[in-house]
Amino acid sequence: MASYLITGGAGFIGSHLADALLAAGHRVHVLDDLSTGRRGNLPADACLTVADVNDDAALDAIAADGLDGCFHLAAVASVQRCNEEWVATHDVNLRGTISVLEAARRFGFPVVYASSAAVYGDCDRLPLREDDAPTRPLTAYGADKLGSELHARVAGVVHGVSTFGLRFFNVFGPRQDPASPYSGVVSIFADRLARNEPVTIHGDGGQSRDFVYVGDVVRALVAALRKADVSAPVANVCTGRATTVRTLAETLATLTASTAAISTGPARTGDIRHSLGDPGVMAHALGVTADVSLADGLGALLSHA
Ligand code: UD1
Repeated sequence: MASYLITGGAGFIGSHLADALLAAGHRVHVLDDLSTGRRGNLPADACLTVADVNDDAALDAIAADGLDGCFHLAAVASVQRCNEEWVATHDVNLRGTISVLEAARRFGFPVVYASSAAVYGDCDRLPLREDDAPTRPLTAYGADKLGSELHARVAGVVHGVSTFGLRFFNVFGPRQDPASPYSGVVSIFADRLARNEPVTIHGDGGQSRDFVYVGDVVRALVAALRKADVSAPVANVCTGRATTVRTLAETLATLTASTAAISTGPARTGDIRHSLGDPGVMAHALGVTADVSLADGLGALLSHA
């Protein structure tokens, strides 16, 4: 049995990881301020500390238990909120990462952390490859994720801390909150169409994304801890398959037998046209491929609603 910390563990991705680690017989500490995460997402045997990720005393108290690794997922994930509350979200999204890396330095454990496809910005050389695509974020969120990768390098070179950064593409699955207008498109469409309510496509619906199922993301997270290194490697977490927003809406309408309207509205300002990752590094470095098809993943999401 090993002992792990998941920051942001009461959130969408973190709670699925907690389930998997507990099912494998490990001890799971969760550090979460419950700003967007929910206690109800967590299984009873996870050990929850309600605190900010920059709360050093809380981090120290957990680390003193003897950690075998940390999965750092705590972040303000709303791109819109990061642009509006620039300084406050920077405190969580970059300083929070440094706080975790600092604890790792003092207590000597490896860190797997969530980066994002947002580090690429709007690059038209697709599919996006880690060693080839330029990193030019277009949002405060993306800039802080890229900053996290840079500090992970510092953690390795200067402090000998092993890390692995995962650039998540469009993750979907059960427990993703559909409530905010800035929630992921899959959770919004699934929630509304399941209730036979209309959905709006921003723009012509021809924009595409690489939608990856949360179960596959959890397998990548677990594999990355074994591969964490002082060279601070990073890998895309993606499928390599593009789906247009219109196809997504139509697939969900079929799966939910919805008769509600799928209408189009104005395109979202700054919306990226196509985002598609190359899953090669994920396959070779981590030995993980995203096996769950969009239809199967959407089916799993709808059956948990
Ligand atoms: C996603 C990530 C974001 C990351 C970015 C990196 C999510 C929730 N967000 O943003 O954290 O920075 O990738 O590239 O995973 N749409 C509609 N109707 C709706 C809602 C959305 O048509 O009601 C469209 C959007 O205009 C967009 C697409 O669906 O074209 C995907 O939107 P969204 O799920 O918000 O994700 P990204 O913008 O790709």
